[in-house]
Amino acid sequence: MPRTRNSQKPAAPWWSTAVVYQVYIRSFADGNGDGVGDIAGLRARLPYLRELGVDAVWITPWYPSPMADGGYDVADYRAIDPTFGTLAEAEEMIAEAHALGVRVLLDIVPNHTSDRHRWFADALAAGPGSHERDRYVFRDGRGEGGALPPNDWRSEFGGRAWTRVTEPDGTPGQWYLHLFASEQPDLNWSSREVRSDFEAILRFWFDRGVDGFRIDVAHGLVKDHTLPDLGIADDAVFEHEGGKEDHPHWDQDGVHEIYQTWRKVAESYAGDRVFVAEAHVREDRLPLYLRQDELHSAFNFAFLKSAWEPNVLREVIDRGVRTPAEVGAPPTWVLSNHDVPRHVTRFGRGDTAFGRRDEGAAVTDRALGTRRARAAALLMLALPGGAYLYQGEELGLWEVEDLPDEALKDPTWERSGHTVRGRDGCRVPLPWSGSDAPFGFGPAGGEAPWLPQPGEWEYFSAQFQSGAPASMLELYRAALRLRREQPGFDSGTLRWLDAPEGVLAFERSPVLRCAVNFSGEPMPLPRDWGVLLTSDRITGGLLPPDTTVWLWGGGAALR
Ligand code: NOJ
Repeated sequence: MPRTRNSQKPAAPWWSTAVVYQVYIRSFADGNGDGVGDIAGLRARLPYLRELGVDAVWITPWYPSPMADGGYDVADYRAIDPTFGTLAEAEEMIAEAHALGVRVLLDIVPNHTSDRHRWFADALAAGPGSHERDRYVFRDGRGEGGALPPNDWRSEFGGRAWTRVTEPDGTPGQWYLHLFASEQPDLNWSSREVRSDFEAILRFWFDRGVDGFRIDVAHGLVKDHTLPDLGIADDAVFEHEGGKEDHPHWDQDGVHEIYQTWRKVAESYAGDRVFVAEAHVREDRLPLYLRQDELHSAFNFAFLKSAWEPNVLREVIDRGVRTPAEVGAPPTWVLSNHDVPRHVTRFGRGDTAFGRRDEGAAVTDRALGTRRARAAALLMLALPGGAYLYQGEELGLWEVEDLPDEALKDPTWERSGHTVRGRDGCRVPLPWSGSDAPFGFGPAGGEAPWLPQPGEWEYFSAQFQSGAPASMLELYRAALRLRREQPGFDSGTLRWLDAPEGVLAFERSPVLRCAVNFSGEPMPLPRDWGVLLTSDRITGGLLPPDTTVWLWGGGAALR
C-alpha cells in the first residue's frame, strides 16, 4: 500500500501533500534498446523512484500515437503504443508501483485526438453535416469557394489553427480546428458521444488501478461556438498572450460541468483518486476549477514562471497558497516540466519559463543556475501543499540547447518556419550510469537515444551522483525523506517571518522554518535553531547567497 506521511496525523488526502514525479516516458528509461523510453524501462527504475522518495508518478501519454506531438496526439485512449509496451505490461507496472508505495497518475488528453484516431478517419469519410464530423470542429471556409479559414485563430505551435480537408469526392472541402498541430484535431465537447466516451476512458484506467489523471489543456475543451475572430494580423505566426479577458477558446465557463461529471466518476471509486489540471487561466479564475465538486488540484504555473527574485516569489507564493484555499484546495507547486526550459538553465541566466525560446542567444552561468536550482528545490519542497518534480531535475540536468536541427522533433520547429526550436531541449533521455552514451538510458549495444545526450552527462548520471553527499540527487533524497518524516511539513500553513532585505523566511510550524538567501551577501543564521538541511555548505553560521536552509528547533526570531 502507498505510504502515509506522519502516520499519527488525521488523514488529509494523500494528494494534498504529495510529491509527484513526472515521467516523460519517451526519455525516462529504454528497456528494449530501441532508443525510446518504455514501460519496461520504467518498471526497472521503480526502485529508484521509491528510493528517491516520491509519493506518485505522473506518466505522460503512453497511448498509441503517431507521435506528431510526443504522444499528445492520441489515436486510441484504451491501449498502449507498441513503442512503450503492452496493456499487460502497463497493468503490471501499476501493480508493481503500488507494491512499492508509489501511486500512478496518467495523462488524459481531452482537447484533441490524433488525426489517426478512428473518429477522425470516420469524420473525413462521412463528409459535411454528418454525425461523425460533429465529434470535431468542422466548418466551411470563408471567401470564394470557402478557400479561406473560418476565422483567424492561431495554433499554439504557430501558424493557422485550421486545416482544409479533401472531401471523399476529391474536392477541396471543409476546415477543421486544431489549436495545436494539424495532426491534433480539436474535439467538439458539445457532442454527447465525446463526453460519454471520455467518462468511459476514465473508468477504463481507474478499473486498472490508476490513482488519477493529469488533464492536458484543461482550460481548452469548450470553445465559443460562434468562433469569433481575434483580430490577429494576417502574417502573424503566433497568437501572443494578449491578456484578452474573454478568450473564445480558452477558459470558457462550459468546461466546468465536464469536470463536475469527471469528479463523480472519480468518486465512484474506492481510494482517493485525483485530478490535476493543466489550466493556463487567469489566477482569479483558477478556483472555479478547484471547487469541491470539480478538480482536486491544478499546477501553479506562476511559480514555474517566476524569476529568481524574492519579492516576486513571495507574492507568487502568497497567491499560490491563498487562491486554491478560497475553495478549500491545496497549492500545487512545480518548477519544470516537459514544456519549458529546465530551471538550471533558466535560473542561470535570469530567464523565466516562458520568457525565451530562442535558445543560445544568452550566456548561461550553469554553476549559478545549479546553485539556485538547489535552493529552489528546498524552497518548493518546504511549501505547504503538493509538488511536482520533472524527471532529471533531481540530477541537476540543464536545457540541451545545441541539439542539431535535424534531431528536433517538436512540431513547433516546423510550424514556426524554423524560428522557434521548441521543447526538445528539456526532453533529452536521462543519464543513468556509465561513462559512454547512452549512459544506461538503454541496454548496451542498443539504438542511440532518440535525442542525443551531452557527453558531460557522464558526471550527472544517477549512478555517478548516488552516495555523493554534495550531489543534486542526494539533496533531493534527503529533502524528500525529511519532508516525509519530520513533523511540521504537513501543517498546511505558512507564516512569513521578519527577515533582512533579500531573504525570504517562513515558518511551517513552531518547530520548522525555511529561509532563502537571495541577496549577494552571506546572512547570519539564528544560533538557537538546528540546521536540518541546506542547499549548500554553511560555514561560520552564515547562510551563503542563493542558498536555502531548513531549520529545526524553536526560540528566537530568524534575524
Ligand atoms: C500541453 C502538453 O503539456 C504539451 O506537451 C502538449 O504539446 C500540449 N498540451 C498539447 O497537447
